[in-house]
This record gives sequence, structure tokens and C-alpha cells, in this order.
Amino acid sequence: MSIAVLLLAAGSGTRFGGAIPKQYVSVQGKTILLHTLRSLEQEPRIAMVQPVIAAGDTHFAACVAGQSFGFTLLPAVEGGTERALSMQRGLAALPDGVSMVAVHDAARPLASQAVLRDVLDVALSYGAAVPAIAVHDTIKRIDADGKVIETPERASLRAVQTPQVARLNWFQQALAQEHEHLHRHTDDASVLEAAGFPVHVSQGDVNNRKITTQDDVQWMLKVLEAGQ
Ligand code: CTP
Ligand code: MG
Repeated sequence: MSIAVLLLAAGSGTRFGGAIPKQYVSVQGKTILLHTLRSLEQEPRIAMVQPVIAAGDTHFAACVAGQSFGFTLLPAVEGGTERALSMQRGLAALPDGVSMVAVHDAARPLASQAVLRDVLDVALSYGAAVPAIAVHDTIKRIDADGKVIETPERASLRAVQTPQVARLNWFQQALAQEHEHLHRHTDDASVLEAAGFPVHVSQGDVNNRKITTQDDVQWMLKVLEAGQ
């Protein structure tokens, strides 16, 4: 059983803005991507990490230069314009022998040991898992005119995070089956769901938050300062 992480870092960070993609912004002297890589060292079952970066990215190499990790850092490969394409290219680059893959956002720097352990445990038991947390707000489904269509029962709703973990052959089969609809999928597990594979939830964590806007960096600084 060999577990690989696909580290998705091929996005351009439109909502974050700024001169460099958000994953390369430094927080407390370390890029967000390096924080993410260090967080993955907490889970000893992660054997390797396959980075997926944008074409022409010069920041990644600088960010990992001279660093050593508790897993094998594979050479980065080029991603695509959509997240599912980046995932597909990363999967294709994995060496033989990988049986389970965890797709993780480079911009999600503070996954805890418990989140990583739990999502792998659930995926090993059921085939696929995503970390999830309860939602506090009531969520409404709306149509294109802004009219409310329905109010799903809050107790049955979850906000999901990454790493999203599944057997490699499930991801491969699901991507092949969904290849004409990849643009529809905003997360990795939804490709599996659309192809009919069962996905279970594991325990997520509020601190396993994705950096999307500048405000999230202020939040991250507070969390890091509180932990020191
Ligand atoms: N990502 C990727 N390939 C894409 C799009 C996103 O590898 N085609 C990665 C991003 O680099 C990020 C993660 O997926 O680490 C989560 O995506 P998101 O937060 O949406 O990042 P961006 O797409 O970079 O940001 P934005 O949507 O604001 O442009
Ligand atoms: Mg995006």
C-alpha cells in the first residue's frame, strides 16, 4: 500500500490578487506551499508528494531548493486550466505501485495530524474519503434569477476540505468516465460521485482552511501565533 499526495499548485490565485500566486506568498518567513509540505510530514503513511504547477512557474523550484522532507518529493509536473485537468496530469505522472492518492490544495497550509490520519483511515476502509465539517449557516439553493428553489436540511450538509483521498484506480476510472464534463467539477470527490463511486466523510477541522483571499493570510498568522 503506497500513498501519494497530489499537491495542486497550478492555480493563478485570481481572488487573492497580488504579484505572485498565493501559494508562494511568505507567511512567517515561509511560503504557504512550504507550510503545506511541512504539514504533510505529520502523516508517516504519505510516501511521496507529486507537485502540479503552472506552465512557466519559477517560484516552485526556489521554494523547495535546499529543503529535505519526510517523504519523496517527486519532480513537479505542469497542470491544466481546470483543477480536474491538473489532477489528471498529476495522476499520470505517478510512479508504478501507488494504490491510494490524496489530492490536496497547495493553498491549504494547516492540515492537522488528526485530519490527515482520519481521512486516510476512512479512505482505506471505504475506498474514498473527504474531510468535512458541519455548516453553521442555513444554505439555500437558488436559480439564475436569484430565486430560492429550496432550503436543504442543515443537519445533512457538510463543508468539505482537502486532502480528498481515493484508490488510484477509482480516480482513473472516474476521470475517464467524466472526461467530457471535467469543467463541472469544483472538487475532486465530485468526479468520483458523478461516476458512481461511494465517497465517505472523515473529520475535518476549522483550521484546515484554504487561503483564498488576503483576509485568510491574517487568519493564518493569528493561528500560527496562537500555536507558538
Ligand atoms: N489549482 C490547480 N490547477 C487549477 C486550478 C487550481 O492546481 N487549474 C490549485 C490551486 O493552485 C490551489 C488549489 O488548486 O492550490 C485550490 O484552488 P483555488 O483556491 O481556487 O486556487 P486558484 O485557482 O489559484 O485561485 P482562484 O480560483 O482565486 O483563481
Ligand atoms: Mg480556482
